[in-house]
Amino acid sequence: MANKDIKRVLVDFLQRGLVISPWLMMNSESRFDVDLFTLVDQIASNTVDLNWTEEEKIEAFGAFPLSERVPKTAVYEIIASTALSIAHYKFADFDIYHEQILEAVGLLNQFIADYGFGNVLKLYGLVTSFENAQVLHYYGKIPEKTFNLGSWHRPWVDYSLSDELFWGIFSGNYQIEIHDSTRFVSLTDRGERVYLEDINILNECGYLTRRVRQLQIHNFTFYQNYTEVANEFWPNMTQLRKDFLTWSGVHPGMRVLELGCANGLFTFDAGLAELVGEKGQVVAIDPSMGMVYRANKRQDELGAHWVTIIQAAAEHLPFESDSFDAVVAFNSLHFMDLPQALQEVMRVIRPEGFFATAHPLKFNMAENKLVQEWMEPITRLAKSRIGNNSKNQVPIDNQKSPEEILADFVSAGYLHIKQLLPKAVNFFKDPETVVKHVIRGVGWMQEELSMVPWKAREDIINEVFELGKTLCKKYSPEERIFLSPLQMIKGTKSC
Ligand SMILES: C[S@@+](CC[C@H](N)C(=O)[O-])C[C@H]1O[C@@H](n2cnc3c(N)ncnc32)[C@H](O)[C@@H]1O
Repeated sequence: MANKDIKRVLVDFLQRGLVISPWLMMNSESRFDVDLFTLVDQIASNTVDLNWTEEEKIEAFGAFPLSERVPKTAVYEIIASTALSIAHYKFADFDIYHEQILEAVGLLNQFIADYGFGNVLKLYGLVTSFENAQVLHYYGKIPEKTFNLGSWHRPWVDYSLSDELFWGIFSGNYQIEIHDSTRFVSLTDRGERVYLEDINILNECGYLTRRVRQLQIHNFTFYQNYTEVANEFWPNMTQLRKDFLTWSGVHPGMRVLELGCANGLFTFDAGLAELVGEKGQVVAIDPSMGMVYRANKRQDELGAHWVTIIQAAAEHLPFESDSFDAVVAFNSLHFMDLPQALQEVMRVIRPEGFFATAHPLKFNMAENKLVQEWMEPITRLAKSRIGNNSKNQVPIDNQKSPEEILADFVSAGYLHIKQLLPKAVNFFKDPETVVKHVIRGVGWMQEELSMVPWKAREDIINEVFELGKTLCKKYSPEERIFLSPLQMIKGTKSC
């Protein structure tokens, strides 16, 4: 199949909520209990028996030799990974239950009916080859045993990757080298080329961006004590939320939509719900189910019946056009696909209504010695990816400059735009807070971390943690405080 076609098929696969590999998993624990494993294993066998016909094999792979086990492993992996993704996004749960498996099976069967089983195998081959090549590319070579166990790059697999190794060698992408009486796997020159081509395909389909976004939402779902840790890391954020609320122009009785409410820090603690009051209405959304649970709990405790919290993302708002007086967002814009979110927000605001947001901006890490030193293990990765530019301006997440955001507001058609550029105080209190908040929580430089194999990611995070211990001795608490730029921006919809 031509690359163009495989991209189209992958885009649709992702849009349907199907997942090939559960890179969301932060630990290497097994995904299933024994009963569910037997069920998925059985479903995988039946799916293969039903769909892996001679005709389909020839159509999809021609004369290329295929192991009997690969199709079954592919179905098993897709069902397991999709069920895990459903568990995360719908239920904020690490565990998979029967109903999520059935939902995943339903999605996969429909996809097979629409595209054929051969296409499922091609997508599975593309993504797993990318992951296998990524670990070989990153480390240069890895012991064959480690490769087969997947312990450095796919620690969740509960089967051997020997078929994939064989497949890679047969295709001319991998080779076995012997060093000190040990067999190692490495990429051939051809394998390196194919790896770069696969990155391009996955990039163009939005697979890699989607992976970063899902990792971020996953982080928020399992970020239990966000309020305490965030307040410790950002000592003036509580005040900034209040200042922003006043500046935004929200007033009592309005119907307001809040984007990215998390556990309700802006909705409740900063006073949005109180300001709007029961004559108005607040609808708060967040794509992270864990955060939606926490915000709902607070809403319940406070009895704020005029506040509704819904799981949704800014890019696809489940609301009628022209239905809100105002839309607000605090510290969430940088997680969104900005042009798409700005258009969607514009759609739901009533004529003459407004959108106001406050969010962090990209900044130059080299401006602060402590940050530069502390984050070096990650910026090192960024530099090898984007080049060591003179300004050392490594982007954090999706963060942009104020001019870029202003330009996006203008091109989305917002009018009467005004802005403020305040500063956030960041306090690198201790290694634990920094790793919990900056890396595993709000996910600074997730783009970099998501582009290295699982073991490397964990090793780098650990390096940041250990480095933090030394730096906390080297720098006083005052020296561990630094300012970073924020933007408050507001625009109106035309009448
Ligand atoms: C740093 S928290 C900010 C929370 C809160 N508003 C505050 O004042 O601290 C960012 C939130 O944005 C959410 N988010 C991520 N992607 C989003 C999207 N596409 N649309 C809306 N919210 C999103 C995250 O799940 C997370 O809860």
